[in-house]
Amino acid sequence: MIKHYHKHGEKLLAQLPKGIFITVKDHSGKTNTMTIAWGHIGVVWSRPVFIAYVRYSRHTYDMLLSAEDFTINVPKEGTLKEALKIAGTQSGRDIDKFKTAGLTLQNSRRVHTPIIKECELQYECKILYTQTQEPALIPDDIKQSHYKNHDTHIMFYGEIVDTYLTEDDN
Ligand SMILES: Cc1cc2nc3c(=O)[nH]c(=O)nc-3n(C[C@H](O)[C@H](O)[C@H](O)COP(=O)(O)O)c2cc1C
Repeated sequence: MIKHYHKHGEKLLAQLPKGIFITVKDHSGKTNTMTIAWGHIGVVWSRPVFIAYVRYSRHTYDMLLSAEDFTINVPKEGTLKEALKIAGTQSGRDIDKFKTAGLTLQNSRRVHTPIIKECELQYECKILYTQTQEPALIPDDIKQSHYKNHDTHIMFYGEIVDTYLTEDDN
């Protein structure tokens, strides 16, 4: 277990509600990214994890199913707003988001999926476990506000195998 997985946790949690990127390279070698604002960092089975919530309808969901890993890319406060908007409103089914949003891919240290160079903080995660939500257990008001169309979230548990500030890698 890496000891420093929480070192930059405050930066991650401060940016999360504004949007961060989850990037994935699938088994065919295609890479995509999407904006997420839900997730958590913590410990499960004595392993450090980042858990992302991805709806069935996302192209990213299809890609995660056939991927070994993903990366979490956290913009520096106040930056990459337009890129977060593009990655959070357009689909990798239709466009190359990296090209459209001006984001550069860079090799990761320990996983297949690359990182986004323009982001300040990186997490490299190996997919450990995938969990669907149980609709019967979701409170009625949340079902009404979030799941009228039954497009529930799937939780992808990524074991954090490395985390670092991008500038430390250069
Ligand atoms: C700020 C913001 C946060 C978002 N958070 C999530 C999230 O946590 N989970 C999710 O499934 N979609 C989330 N979305 C929506 C996806 O990013 C969006 O549907 C995206 O276009 C999906 O891309 P894809 O089809 O290439 O996977 C968010 C969008 C924005 C703008």
